[in-house]
Amino acid sequence: MQDTQQRFKKRGVDYDVSEVMFGLPREYYQSEAIYQEELEKIFYQRWILACREEEVPEPGDYLTVPVGEESIIVVRDEQGQIHAHFNVCRHRGTRICMEEKGQFASGFIQCPYHAWRYKLDGHLKAAPLMKDAPGFQKTDNPLFSAHVGLWGGFVFINLAEEPAPFEDEMGALFGKFEDWKLPELRIAHQLSYTLSCNWKLILQNYQECYHCPGVHPLLSRWTPFRSAVHDCFDGAVIGGYMEMSEPGGSMTMDGKAAAPPVCNVSGDDLQRVHYYSVFPSLLLSPHPDFVLYHRIRSVAVGQIRNDCFFLLHPDVIGEPKHMERFQSAIEFWDMTNRQDWRVCEQMQLGLTSRRFERGRYSPQEDMLYALDKEVLKALGHVLPE
Ligand code: FES
Ligand SMILES: [Fe+2]
Repeated sequence: MQDTQQRFKKRGVDYDVSEVMFGLPREYYQSEAIYQEELEKIFYQRWILACREEEVPEPGDYLTVPVGEESIIVVRDEQGQIHAHFNVCRHRGTRICMEEKGQFASGFIQCPYHAWRYKLDGHLKAAPLMKDAPGFQKTDNPLFSAHVGLWGGFVFINLAEEPAPFEDEMGALFGKFEDWKLPELRIAHQLSYTLSCNWKLILQNYQECYHCPGVHPLLSRWTPFRSAVHDCFDGAVIGGYMEMSEPGGSMTMDGKAAAPPVCNVSGDDLQRVHYYSVFPSLLLSPHPDFVLYHRIRSVAVGQIRNDCFFLLHPDVIGEPKHMERFQSAIEFWDMTNRQDWRVCEQMQLGLTSRRFERGRYSPQEDMLYALDKEVLKALGHVLPE
């Protein structure tokens, strides 16, 4: 680990670790009022991971993506363009799609109530008998659109009417991980979990390895917990990498690679596992031989759904012998995930105690302090010293 204090100063960030680093007060993990504020100022304002492009491969393919209390239809149109629409009919506000995914086989999105029909790009195509309604114009009634941003084969959406530009918020990702050729990779496996904890706890858990020796004995053998080096310290994207102790190794049950190196990965990256939080809904972890990511969906103040995906090159997915070996990576990460979820859920329980107010971070947890700053900045909150 580098000298964190100097590093923050060098980058001109307005704090350093000579500052006493406290965590957020417990209400930030328990309060329904603060959670509602987070929905308004974070989840309805920031860029949220919706899916991979491959999850809507053909025209008419769609997913419905829950974001807080909203539901968004992500759909590919006849020209191949991906759109995001609020899942609400312009007639009387009915939720249109109830399924998690599907195909608009007719080429239209049709409301089940009075059969208003929308084109895949959201324009209203047909509204039965509405020509008799004075002044009614179909052009005034498209589906409400959400913004779409694409990077590395990932589809992000933003529900704000005037969001911060995708390039500004996600800029730290651009040009990163080019050797993995992320758009070419495909989902090889998915693990799904429901966790009884606040969404911030899982992001925090991901950005420190202070807990690794006790919680993850095997992970700590493959990546010594003090080997973390961070290179993104503030903003929506923060993180860095850890060095692996085994040459040519990876994060598997036996510490050996699970697959050939991904695309053009070479040099130092063959020895590193990268861990980035893309605030507030993606944890991205390129390994030498695969890419792992978590898609986090906050369901309630104390509940999240987490889908954990493994990406591989299609040539590797097509080889049964590679996929047999790859089980070792899936087994390792399922075990490690569950170790993390257990402590996150225990922390959520402990935070209900009226005696606990807020705790001190260790110098190993400086990234959590940066994450907390991002939350407070988004909420416009200033905590008393
Ligand atoms: S509410 Fe959708 S068509 Fe009437
Ligand atoms: Fe962990």
